[in-house]
Amino acid sequence: MKAPARLIAIENVTKRYATSSGPVEALHDVSLAVGEGEFCTLIGPSGCGKSTLLGMLGGLVHPDRGRVLVDGQPVTGPDPRRVATVFQDPGLFPWRTALKNVEFGLELGGMPAERRRSIATELLGPLGLKGFAGKYPRELSGGMKQRVAIGRALAIDTKILLMDEPFGALDEQTRVLMGEWLLDIWRRTRKTVIFVTHSLHEALFLSTRVAVMTARPGRIKSVLDLSMDYPRSMESPELVALRAKLWGEIREESLRAMQ
Ligand SMILES: Nc1ncnc2c1ncn2[C@@H]1O[C@H](COP(=O)(O)OP(=O)(O)OP(=O)(O)O)[C@@H](O)[C@H]1O
Ligand SMILES: [Mg+2]
Repeated sequence: MKAPARLIAIENVTKRYATSSGPVEALHDVSLAVGEGEFCTLIGPSGCGKSTLLGMLGGLVHPDRGRVLVDGQPVTGPDPRRVATVFQDPGLFPWRTALKNVEFGLELGGMPAERRRSIATELLGPLGLKGFAGKYPRELSGGMKQRVAIGRALAIDTKILLMDEPFGALDEQTRVLMGEWLLDIWRRTRKTVIFVTHSLHEALFLSTRVAVMTARPGRIKSVLDLSMDYPRSMESPELVALRAKLWGEIREESLRAMQ
């Protein structure tokens, strides 16, 4: 099989933050390449630099050393034409309806009202929010709000979608359903997704690749290639074995992070 083109290249990236108690090294010499159409998940203990790495891909955080390339070009700042981000907190505008929230990025990009309304309206169907276009965030459940936030990111139709623990605040059942829903969306749009989670289930159910990070300073500890077909049965012997392997690695790093 032909290797996928490397859409994203993270090359020897190191990041230190200045804090009141001295510098904190968040990432140390991290390298990772992600091909077009991949669903790549970052997993690792709290504070190991996952959000920092996503921030770099989104152009919001700058590396001290090394570089981050998207489509062969160094990332120098946010580029909403190429990269959209979904944060853990849906961050919806409370004064805008679900539809108007989904439209937001298109409005910012100067798209005429009629066109952006039609794009956002069409998205509400697959988002499972068809009857909720006119509702305000306070009238939506947590899962619905998160879907609106994902809709806002999908509407601008970038090649790359960064997702930082998008389902972290949801209950387990909703979370599993949202994972199934996201898988369906990803398979239809074939976007390149970089996904951060603490959930082994999500990582194994969704990803083409899982990068395990070490305790801070974050490095790539191992990369797991998952070639099983979708949708995956989490009870299959292969996935049960991979889950045990992944948990072994994460457990070790999480224990180190707690020391
Ligand atoms: N703006 C900042 N200023 C100072 N320190 C920061 C800043 N952002 C992150 N850090 C520190 O850098 C380290 C990595 O943070 P980061 O948020 O990237 O971790 P994370 O892997 O996303 O953690 P979590 O799983 O808890 O979300 C942490 O020690 C954090 O305290
Ligand atoms: Mg984080």
